[in-house]
Amino acid sequence: MILPIYLYGQPVLKKVAEDITPDYPQLSELIDNMFETMHNAEGIGLAAPQIGLAIRLVVVDLDVLAEDYPEYKEFRKVYINAHIIEGSDETDSMEEGCLSLPGIHEKVTRPSRIHVKYLDENFVEHDEWVDGFLARVMQHEFDHLEGKVFSDRLSPLRRQMNKNKLLNLAKGKASCAYKTKRVLR
Ligand code: NI
Repeated sequence: MILPIYLYGQPVLKKVAEDITPDYPQLSELIDNMFETMHNAEGIGLAAPQIGLAIRLVVVDLDVLAEDYPEYKEFRKVYINAHIIEGSDETDSMEEGCLSLPGIHEKVTRPSRIHVKYLDENFVEHDEWVDGFLARVMQHEFDHLEGKVFSDRLSPLRRQMNKNKLLNLAKGKASCAYKTKRVLR
C-alpha cells in the first residue's frame, strides 16, 4: 500500500524517533508499505517519520544506482533502531534531495565514514563502519530519526537561497507526482 509522504512543515519530521521492539504491530507489513511508497516516489531511502511515524525504522534501496556503483546491485536494506556512534574527520560534499522536500537539491557536507549500530529486519544486531555512497544515504536517513532534514545542515547562505522554497513547502505549497501529507492553511 502506498502511504502519503509527509512534507517539510509537518511536526513529525522534527521529532526524535523512538526505538521499537519486535512486537511492534504489523511491522513486516509496514516495511513492505515503506518500500512500495519509496519506489513509487522514486526514492532510494525512506525513514518512518516521513510517513508520519516517529520510530527508528528506515528502508534503503540502492539498486537503481547499480550502473554507477556495481556493489549496490540488488542492495535493499532495512535499518531498525539505527544510531550513528561516530563519524570520520574526513568529509565529503555531495548533492542531496529528499522526498519530504520536493524541489530542493543542495550540496551537503558530511563525514565520509560512519560507525553505525542497527538491527536488521530479523532484529539481528549489526555494528559496522560504512563508507561510500551508502554512508551518505544512511546519514541522510538517520538524520530523519533525530528530527533533522538536510536543509538544517546547509550554510546560512544556502539556506537563505532556499528560503522561499522552504516557506512554500511549510505552507503546503508543493508540486510532486506522489501522494503527500502537507500542512493545509
Ligand atoms: Ni530525506
